[in-house]
Amino acid sequence: MKTLLIIVLLALLTFTAEVLAQNPEIVDQIWPEVQPIGRTARINCTVAKLQNYDVVWYHVDSEQTISFGEGINVENPMIGSLKKYEVRMRAEGDRVTYMLVIRRLRQQDSGTYKCQVRITNTAQEEWPSKLGSLTVQVAPTIKLGDTSAVLQVDRYQNTSLECSATGIPAPNITWTRSDGGLLPVLPTPVAQFRGAKLPLVNVDIQHMGVYRCVADNNIKPPAEHLAEVLVFHPPSTRVVQNSVGQAQNRRASAKLECIVQGHPQPTVTWERQVDKGRVIINDDDKFDINKQTTDNQNLKAMEHWYSLKVKNVQANDFVPYYCRASNRYGNHSSRIGLFETSECQGPNCKTLPPSAATHVTVSTLFLVYPAIFLMRLFL
Ligand SMILES: *[C@@H]1O[C@H](CO)[C@@H](O)[C@H](O)[C@H]1NC(C)=O
Ligand SMILES: *[C@@H]1O[C@H](CO)[C@@H](O)[C@H](O)[C@H]1NC(C)=O
Ligand SMILES: *[C@@H]1O[C@H](CO)[C@@H](O)[C@H](O)[C@H]1NC(C)=O
Ligand SMILES: *[C@@H]1O[C@H](CO)[C@@H](O)[C@H](O)[C@H]1NC(C)=O
Repeated sequence: MKTLLIIVLLALLTFTAEVLAQNPEIVDQIWPEVQPIGRTARINCTVAKLQNYDVVWYHVDSEQTISFGEGINVENPMIGSLKKYEVRMRAEGDRVTYMLVIRRLRQQDSGTYKCQVRITNTAQEEWPSKLGSLTVQVAPTIKLGDTSAVLQVDRYQNTSLECSATGIPAPNITWTRSDGGLLPVLPTPVAQFRGAKLPLVNVDIQHMGVYRCVADNNIKPPAEHLAEVLVFHPPSTRVVQNSVGQAQNRRASAKLECIVQGHPQPTVTWERQVDKGRVIINDDDKFDINKQTTDNQNLKAMEHWYSLKVKNVQANDFVPYYCRASNRYGNHSSRIGLFETSECQGPNCKTLPPSAATHVTVSTLFLVYPAIFLMRLFL
């Protein structure tokens, strides 16, 4: 009795093994494919004992059957001389590889692909299938809506700058300051900070300036964004030289220069001392008031350069001058003295008064040209 049972069992096992051995089988895993946007992806599905069944590629994300055997089942536009999709079949022994080729990758091509062997007359759940992934890499872009452009804060506040970027893989975000300064973060200020949100602590005037965030995921090019940090504070003024010399009565001018900082940007007025008081100077025949726009190495971030030109310096011009900067937080002024020198100062002294040489040249030309003209007429 026992012997019979064993024989029956053995026969059953052998039969089952044979049936199983005949079924197709997807060998190995489907290796994940990673390609930059625009390039070509190749995903491979290798099937053993395929017989004459069909291998199907299915894009899980878009719920589309891409291919059926070597035939493409979806819209398949030309890309150059080739098609968007292609299935290449390669047989090796009892194994067949179905390679799905996807050209000019778009972001929506990424996701999960299922390779499936359709066994006719069998329930779909029993069809051999395996999943593979396609990652389409995308260079970073800054999401402007979620990214700080200008941040205005009061002094000693805690605040933060945000830099939001997309990209595949998700980019690393790094903050630095354009002027190379330190970032006021805890526990100690640093030159470089990693993270989308830059938490600024105890922000003060020296932290004003341009902050740069770079989003990088190793797919070229990295994305960059500049944000400006402005800290409300009363103006401060400083002079380039605290005294300027010029000779009187030489039709020479003197230039007084003042460097101003403050936020909101201060209005600047020039004053001169008259008796014991100060009088505001107007831009007129006598005075030229200017804001220098040229970038100057003497300027720190957020500083502005102003100048007052005292034209045709006379004896009564040798008084103290003041540049005053005001905004709604206060005002500040700096003093510049104008003192008398015996020699005329500056490059304009050479041409004043006009030299006789210019007149000679001009008059000579006026004589030479008519002479040539006359000679041509008569010869
Ligand atoms: C698929 O096979 C092709 C040809 O052998 C190979 O170039 C490609 O890298 C393979 N794909 C993956 C994701 O391994
Ligand atoms: C800013 O943060 C620091 C450290 O967390 C804290 O000591 C300080 O009180 C905060 N300042 C303001 C104005 O909240
Ligand atoms: C982000 O930086 C880390 C550390 O430097 C690095 O290992 C990782 O690959 C970077 N990620 C990307 C997407 O570049
Ligand atoms: C400058 O500030 C002082 C107070 O600090 C104020 O009395 C004065 O009116 C201000 N001057 C100007 C020109 O704003």
